[in-house]
Amino acid sequence: MRKLAAGNWKMNGTSATLAELEALSRAHPDPGVDVLVCLPATLIHPARTLLDNAPVALGGQDCHAAASGAHTGDIAAAQLADAGASAVILGHSERREDHGETSDRVRQKAIAAHQAGLIAVICLGETLAQREAGETLAIIGAQLSASLPDTCTAANTVVAYEPVWAIGTGKIPTKAQIADVHSFVREGLIAELGAQEAAGLRLLYGGSVKPANAAEIFGIENVDGALVGGASLTAAEFSPIIRALEASVHPA
Ligand code: PGA
Repeated sequence: MRKLAAGNWKMNGTSATLAELEALSRAHPDPGVDVLVCLPATLIHPARTLLDNAPVALGGQDCHAAASGAHTGDIAAAQLADAGASAVILGHSERREDHGETSDRVRQKAIAAHQAGLIAVICLGETLAQREAGETLAIIGAQLSASLPDTCTAANTVVAYEPVWAIGTGKIPTKAQIADVHSFVREGLIAELGAQEAAGLRLLYGGSVKPANAAEIFGIENVDGALVGGASLTAAEFSPIIRALEASVHPA
């Protein structure tokens, strides 16, 4: 499987910020891992034009479950694909919180993404209260089975484990905590998709991934890359994370 360094710009950036993407693509003309940056929808088409055929894939951060229609302010998966996206983040905890998105809704969106030919990057994660109550694996298991549709394959789906309490906080779970959840998710995927698809499906860790902690995180079993928020906004921070992932594939 090819590892994946994915960025999530969230609601940050305007056309001026695309200079960061250009710098990133110049720094990685032939990356040894997949590089994906999930942009605000308005920036996808200009970014694709700017980057031309450079090996930086672009994604959206949400899509509607319907193919088209009367849904003011929403965006369809086919519209993201048309703009130049090859992936879309679904079920990020900020959408689950801000917009009341349920796992059932995330599953419907993932079906729409797959129908439009997009890779669905499906996010799972427990809150601090749930972790402290010892409910982490129960929450992750429930989110996993309810959020992934039958259309999932290793090629069209990525799962990101993002503890809500680690996002944007600088707090990181221990290596053992990450390893536990990732191996639990891998087992769940084996049960849902079969051993072969489950083995090839990328499991990302997300939540306060930075240049300083990336190598350690990428050394954890069943971590196939990262979903990076704040540190994906500049080439100066995202680039060393990409290099750390490359180094985990081909240790020097
Ligand atoms: P962070 O965000 O890297 O800024 O913690 C990660 C995410 O929300 O995807």
